[in-house]
Amino acid sequence: MSDTTPGRLTKLSRSVAGKRVIVTGAASGMGRATAHLFADEGARVAVVDLQPERVLAVTDEIRDVHGADAAIDVVCDVADHDSLKALVATVVDRFGGIDVVVNNAGISLVNSAFQDEDTYEANWARTLDVNLTAHSRLIRLALPYLREADGGGRVVNIASTESIVVTAGLAAYAATKAGVVGLTKSLAVELGRHGVNVNCICPGPINTGMTSGIDDEAKQLYAKRRVPLRRYGDPEEVAQMTLSLCLPAASFLNGAIIPVDGGMSIRHT
Ligand code: NAI
Repeated sequence: MSDTTPGRLTKLSRSVAGKRVIVTGAASGMGRATAHLFADEGARVAVVDLQPERVLAVTDEIRDVHGADAAIDVVCDVADHDSLKALVATVVDRFGGIDVVVNNAGISLVNSAFQDEDTYEANWARTLDVNLTAHSRLIRLALPYLREADGGGRVVNIASTESIVVTAGLAAYAATKAGVVGLTKSLAVELGRHGVNVNCICPGPINTGMTSGIDDEAKQLYAKRRVPLRRYGDPEEVAQMTLSLCLPAASFLNGAIIPVDGGMSIRHT
């Protein structure tokens, strides 16, 4: 090999071992799978949710496998600004910093134009607080720590295919998910130079708590009609993409909006 021949490859790491990770909405569904996956890969995880018993259950599941230091339980309503401040303070106190934020907590309240005014207003406001404002606030609060993260900080925002194709009666949900895409792009452009990569995943239909009210037959019918892979996805399949976006080796990925939807969003007929 001559002196001018470049080396075969650099040594970009595919390990998140030791990373300090916040996962919101981690008591159920994709958040739970994400918390487990990061812990399985050697990260330390803050399991964040507003359901105290389930937060503790998921945290204990992780600790049982990986030891007491692998996870902390944080009960937090992400819609409450002070609770988010307390969350960041707790994580920094226990882990010494923050390397990764996964903004996953979300709700899908019915929000139809024909609802009575009080219900419409309440559902609109709550959905915006939980699904969009919380994402923006948590990134800002974690920013001083993400900037200090070894190899750069990472943010993964969970939006939805509802940011692209929508369902009647979910106005606020669709608005917030499109908002998360916009937030991701704006912060990716602003924070990239400060060592923080911001990316977004748009899951399609996934078997989680959010879709547990839909009966199996209706799910199968929908999937066969709409999803090229002809099925709902599993939470783990989204968690794997979230993890991939946070690998040190994914260092040049910034501002990406990635569907994990079995091909649903690009299907025409
Ligand atoms: P899930 O209902 O199983 O889990 C959501 C978790 O968020 C729950 O544990 C819930 O307690 C928590 N949460 C809700 N409001 C909260 C708050 N104010 N503070 C803290 N935690 C809160 O649902 P899933 O499906 O795992 O949802 C995760 C994300 O994926 C959400 O942002 C959702 O919009 C999104 N998504 C879900 C899809 C699906 O088909 N299940 C499709 C596309 C996106």
